[in-house]
This record gives sequence, structure tokens and C-alpha cells, in this order.
Amino acid sequence: MNNVNSTGMREVNWHTKVMGMALLVASCKPTPPPFALADVRDLPDHFPAYVEPEENPLNKAKWELGRHLFFDERLGADGKLSCASCHNPAVGMADSLATTPGAFDVDGFRNAPALVNLAWQPRYHREGGVPTLESQVLAPVQESNEFNRNLIELVDQLSLDNQYQAWSNEGFQRPFDAYVMTRSLAAFQRTLISGGSPYDRWLQGEVSALSQAATRGRVLFDALECASCHAGVFLSDFATHNTGLHESYLDPGAYRLTFDSADVGAFKTPSLRNVELTAPYMFDGSLPTLESVIEHYVSGGSGHFNQDVRVRPRDISSQDRRDLVAFLKSFTDDEFVIWSEGLRP
Ligand code: HEC
Ligand code: HEC
Repeated sequence: MNNVNSTGMREVNWHTKVMGMALLVASCKPTPPPFALADVRDLPDHFPAYVEPEENPLNKAKWELGRHLFFDERLGADGKLSCASCHNPAVGMADSLATTPGAFDVDGFRNAPALVNLAWQPRYHREGGVPTLESQVLAPVQESNEFNRNLIELVDQLSLDNQYQAWSNEGFQRPFDAYVMTRSLAAFQRTLISGGSPYDRWLQGEVSALSQAATRGRVLFDALECASCHAGVFLSDFATHNTGLHESYLDPGAYRLTFDSADVGAFKTPSLRNVELTAPYMFDGSLPTLESVIEHYVSGGSGHFNQDVRVRPRDISSQDRRDLVAFLKSFTDDEFVIWSEGLRP
């Protein structure tokens, strides 16, 4: 039985090779060069393996289309708003307002999170309710306080762009449509990889990469249990917690998904990468500075009934506070900022 199988296998391989050669000769078309993540972005060697869904592997045309769509202001109903309006490369792919107005200046709802190392995030949005990057794209398009667009009309409009059609045919072998738009934006966003900060160099073994203040801050970050939620290389456990930010929450957070009262005011732990650049902080942008975030934690929170026990009054000195801030600033990846600024078409 085995013999028959393996003989059959060899035969198939041989046929495939001959046919492959014949095809190459007949078509005279150069085979497209293989494309990998490394063609657009280096994967830091202390990161886990790169994850992409089997149904949406990266290729060059897809990436170019996603990159152009990300910066395309035609997406906004008023023609003046792109993804980058709220996820701005200059400030770590976040923005500098508590909440960013959508098309026609309609008030925003939450603080725009920094888009970074998204490939490894298991769930998206502040309460973690969106399972994939591909499906996430539909949220800003249709949201009345973001692009405020009818999806079909937007796709029809963008389909008139000849370059988009060319990338779509090359990257997906099909004309531009909603499938292509969501897949290309997701594939592009997975390459927003930041892992070149002083903290990363320290993780890679360069002891002197952290200043003395940041080194002391790192010890405090562990001792005060910050690291149990802002965990690992991505500085997040990707779970939702109530940090006692408010006594009562106008935005109920994860409760919106679960209707479980234990989830009122629970939000996903944000990655702290480039956090120096992404002020103001928290889901509603209510804390203006890193110093005010530290103050919130060490003062012990509001005492909300869902507040996590790790947020409690801590007696630390002003030197300790400065050291913690120095450690938070060691997550700033200057190379990432320069690279992502260069993505603008
Ligand atoms: C008007 C501002 C605005 C625009 C425009 C906008 N976003 Fe966002 N984005 C936000 C806000 C606010 C959130 C948080 C949403 C929530 O938690 O409900 C968010 C969340 C996200 C997330 C989830 C991140 C995470 O860590 O969970 C992704 C991914 C994202 N946006 C990508 C995009 C893409 C792609 C576009 C363009 C197609 C876009 N955004 C346009 C404001 C904006
Ligand atoms: C119980 C888990 C948990 C602990 C412990 C914790 N955090 Fe957080 N952290 C979160 C969550 C969840 C948020 C988002 C809260 C929100 O949006 O309201 C957050 C937000 C932040 C932010 C703002 C990030 C942003 O982009 O808005 C900073 C900075 C921060 N934490 C630093 C710390 C420091 C420093 C400590 C230790 C003193 C700490 N955290 C302890 C879960 C935690």
C-alpha cells in the first residue's frame, strides 16, 4: 500500500515539474518575485512568529493598495478624513485629541487607539468586541461619527480609481470591491510593527539601552503589578479590566458586549508602545499626561465596584513617579515613527 502511494506521489511530482517547465517556456512571463513581510518591515528577533490569516496573505500589490487607502481622504463623507486623520504616524498611529471628530465634524465617541503590532492582537476595539482586522474596517466606514459612508457607494466611488483597480487585480485577481478594501487595509495594518525602542534593545540583551531612571522605573513597574496587565513584549494581556478611572461610566465598556454587570467600565489593556506620543490617555482621553496616569494608579482609583484589586493606593515618592515615567518613555520607537511617516503616499 505504502509503495503504491509513494510511487504515485513521485509520479505526480515529476509531472508537475515537467508541466511547470512547459508553462514557463510557453508563457515567457517572469514568475512574480516571492513577497514576504521582510520586503516592507523587519520582524524584531525577540517577537513571536508573524501571524496572518491563511485567507489573507501579504503581497506587494495588496500592501500598496492598503497603504494608499489608509491615507485616502476620499473615505470620509466630506472628502477630508482618512484613517490617518485619527491614526496619525507622527504620534504613534494615534491622535492628540481626547476624541477625534468624524466627517462634517461630528463628535467622536472614544479616544483613537495607537495602531501598533496589531497582527498579534486577538481582539480589537476598546472593549475587544471585534475579532479580526478584516472585519474592523467596516466600523469606521459606516460609523456616523467617523467616515459616515454607505459602503456600496464608497466602493463604487473608489472603483473608478484605475490604480486601485490595477492593484486589486494584481493582489487579489478580482476587481476592486468591499472584500478587497477590507483585506488590503488589514494586510497593510499588520505590518505596522514597532519593536525598536530602548526597551526592546534592553529585552534583546543590551543592558545599557535603559537609562538609570528607566531601569529603576522597570523594577517599580513589576513591583506595582503594572506588568501583570501590561505584560510581555506587547505590554498588554489583551484582556478587559476596570481600572477605577471613574465612579460611574457613561461608556459601559465590555458590558456593551456581555450585558454582565461585572464588565461595566472594563476596557482592553492598551499596549504602551510609543505611549509618550499618544496622549491624552484612557478610552475617553480623560487623562492628559503620563504623570496624571501614574497619579491615577497610585491614588488607588475611584473605588468602582468592578475595580481590579491591583489598582490600589500605593505609597511612592516623587522620584519613583519620575522613574516610572522614564520607563514608560523607553517604549518610544523613533525608527517606527520615521518609517511610518514615510508610508504617506
Ligand atoms: C474619526 C476618527 C477615526 C477614523 C477616521 C478611523 N478610526 Fe480607527 N479608531 C478610532 C477609534 C475612536 C477607535 C476605538 C473604537 C472603539 O473602541 O470602539 C478606533 C479603533 C481602531 C482599531 C482597533 C485598534 C485596537 O487596538 O483595538 C483599528 C484596527 C482601526 N481603528 C483602524 C482604522 C482604519 C483602518 C481606519 C480607516 C479605514 C480607521 N481606523 C479610521 C478612530 C478612528
Ligand atoms: C488590572 C490591569 C492593569 C494594571 C494593574 C495596570 N494597568 Fe494600565 N491600563 C489597564 C487598562 C485596562 C487600561 C485602559 C483603561 C481605560 O481605557 O480606561 C490601562 C491604561 C494605561 C495607560 C494609558 C495608555 C493609553 O494608551 O491610553 C498607561 C500609561 C498605563 N495604563 C500605565 C500603567 C502603569 C504605570 C501601571 C502600574 C502603576 C498600570 N498601568 C497598571 C490595565 C492595567
